[in-house]
Amino acid sequence: MEVVIHPDSGAVARTTADIVQGRLEQGHAALGLATGSTPLGAYRELIRRHRQEGLSFARAQAFTLDEYLGLPPEHLGSYRSVIRREFTDSVDFPDRAVHSLDGHAPDPVAEAARYEAAIAAAGGIDVQILGIGTDGHIGFNEPMSSLASRTRIKTLTEQTRRDNARFFPAPEDVPHHVLTQGLATIRDARHLLLIGLGEAKAEAIAAAVEGPLAAACPASSLQLHPHTTVLVDQAAASRLQ
Ligand code: F6R
Repeated sequence: MEVVIHPDSGAVARTTADIVQGRLEQGHAALGLATGSTPLGAYRELIRRHRQEGLSFARAQAFTLDEYLGLPPEHLGSYRSVIRREFTDSVDFPDRAVHSLDGHAPDPVAEAARYEAAIAAAGGIDVQILGIGTDGHIGFNEPMSSLASRTRIKTLTEQTRRDNARFFPAPEDVPHHVLTQGLATIRDARHLLLIGLGEAKAEAIAAAVEGPLAAACPASSLQLHPHTTVLVDQAAASRLQ
């Protein structure tokens, strides 16, 4: 793992954008996009580069990491909606090139298999942006997820439901179940960018980077990947040895 400690979240966002831009400029790119608060600075920086410097996403594809089960695609809280609102609708990404899991699919198991096939058909993901949960989750792979897992249904822990309640009108509106790329699916991407911002993520970042490889901290499974870059601000780096 390569760990890059920046003074603040703005520098993390610019470095993330640099890596994404570098890959886009090589031609067709498949980007893996996390939702949540962590990548928003990087998305804003990419939008700025699109508007002011002509950075283009016209030949790129995007795959979101996960989705709430039971939310219709057009629901404001669905990750399909969120990624469009926060990022892809503000650049020249063709809408059909922005792929996501359908949380309303009648057969979620078949939907998970369809998504794995769609990623494979795109040639795999080139750069995967990841946030980290306070409990070490990536995607919605909660602690004790199988390190060999593929895209599948998962149950959220109460801690993650509480952490995500800010995106819903009321805490009880947060769904209990999700579809998420598995840990092995995530590790199939060619370059992984794990971003951690703020003191609240310091313990999870330390466990991911320096802790034992263990299902108790799903992000530690990124230690198995030959090309993982951990991008953190000073606060998120504060528990590293
Ligand atoms: C969201 C996702 C989650 C988040 C994590 C951190 O697509 O994959 O793993 O990255 O829950 O969320 P924030 O960034 O909101 O702290």
